[in-house]
Amino acid sequence: MSDLLTSAAGSAYLVAAVLFILTLAGLSKQETSRRGIVFGVTGMAVALAATISLAVRDAWGQPGWALGLGLMVVAVIVGASIGLWRARVVQMTGMPELIALLHSFVGLAAVLVGWNGHLTHPELPGALEGVHSAEVFIGVFIGAVTFTGSIVAFLKLSARISSKPLALPGKNVLNVLALVAFVALTVWYVVTPTLGLLIAVTILALALGLHLVASIGGGDMPVVVSMLNSYSGWAAAAAGFLLNNDLLIVTGALVGSSGAYLSYIMCKAMNRSFLSVIAGGFGIEAPRASGEEEQGEHTEITAEQTAELLSGASSVVITPGYGMAVAQAQYPVADLVQRLRAQGVTVRFGIHPVAGRLPGHMNVLLAEARVPYDIVLEMDEINDELADTDVVLVIGANDTVNPAAAEDPASPIAGMPVLRVWEARNVVVFKRSMASGYAGVQNPLFFRDNARMLFGDARQAVDDILRFL
Ligand code: TAP
Repeated sequence: MSDLLTSAAGSAYLVAAVLFILTLAGLSKQETSRRGIVFGVTGMAVALAATISLAVRDAWGQPGWALGLGLMVVAVIVGASIGLWRARVVQMTGMPELIALLHSFVGLAAVLVGWNGHLTHPELPGALEGVHSAEVFIGVFIGAVTFTGSIVAFLKLSARISSKPLALPGKNVLNVLALVAFVALTVWYVVTPTLGLLIAVTILALALGLHLVASIGGGDMPVVVSMLNSYSGWAAAAAGFLLNNDLLIVTGALVGSSGAYLSYIMCKAMNRSFLSVIAGGFGIEAPRASGEEEQGEHTEITAEQTAELLSGASSVVITPGYGMAVAQAQYPVADLVQRLRAQGVTVRFGIHPVAGRLPGHMNVLLAEARVPYDIVLEMDEINDELADTDVVLVIGANDTVNPAAAEDPASPIAGMPVLRVWEARNVVVFKRSMASGYAGVQNPLFFRDNARMLFGDARQAVDDILRFL
């Protein structure tokens, strides 16, 4: 009976692993993403059922088994209730910080599993003892870096602390020293696994995680979030080795490698060095200009004048950003698109890879408002056509349309590819004030001759335009 359960659980783990791979494949395209989520939920349910069955079998009849299982049930109910509640109430704009917080839990779990592996483990033959010690030490290290790194990311993304990079003197030397110390401590611990060494590596890794993420500026936070996602995967894989759980190893490796690849793609999209970002801003000089000051006179436009401008246009491009998400303006924007297209105007969207606060943020909002996929183009697909466009509507975007990134080498966002909206014949910028964007840099676009500012909440502004059209 017991053997049968072990084989059934092994098969269930295999099914769950395949479902997780199908999830990743599904999530790579908008059209298949819902199916991907269904695969993921099913895989997780199968994995949980198998793991709980094994835990019940192993605990059954042991001293204190009822209390142990009871505590496990309580933990699952409390955890699941908090998770469900947070997932239901979170705003789309709050997703990155929620994700960062969830990564911190994976890191913490890996630290606890590692500590547990040190404090309680069965007698092992000599060679395996060394392997076990290395697993404990590496798992605790990755988990602790992920834990504090994710907490700092959470604090930065939720604006509880400044998103400016911390620039300690000799920050790169500090990081390298921490890594060298980790390697030396690992060797020492494998030879003599003492509690003192475990405490030392935990403190070292907690400090390193904190320093790595604190050293990265606001503009690079999207990459940091996906990098922490990757770290959390490796932390889970390390815990899988310790718990001797194949599914945790496979799932952790899937999350770790897909997160690393996503970080790499995002670095390429943002023209940033991957190695530099994962090494806590290694080689990135502090920008010479903070560039928050205004750079000339701006011109305002009203909703009525914008409606007139749009009526005379034959091509319109909309470049949405974080402000569209805050205002929840995607619904009136979708109505505006429908209205303009009915009048024969060519309307398309230009999506910057890091518009908003999480990868694909704008695509999700537009899909929610039922904007057809085929008019939603990526930055590289639309950039060369902007010069030939009558009107660009910049709806709640700022850093992603900032010409300073392309033209001012001293700007903190220099080198980041942007949507070249300033090349269009007319640009209307929807925002509430002259405030800078997420990276804290002023935008010279607002002072260009072909740009007009439409101040106010983006949703209200688009609603007003619809009334005048
Ligand atoms: P931002 O540069 O943050 O600019 C958004 C603009 O929207 C702000 O200037 C703000 O100006 C305006 N806004 C806010 N609420 C509004 C409302 N209710 N109505 C109208 N306007 C409103 O956004 P972006 O262009 O999308 O660029 C994204 C930035 O976030 C980049 O720097 C990126 O690196 C960073 N980031 C991205 C991610 C990912 S993965 N996408 C994750 C973390 C950080 P007012 O306050 O004047 O209204």
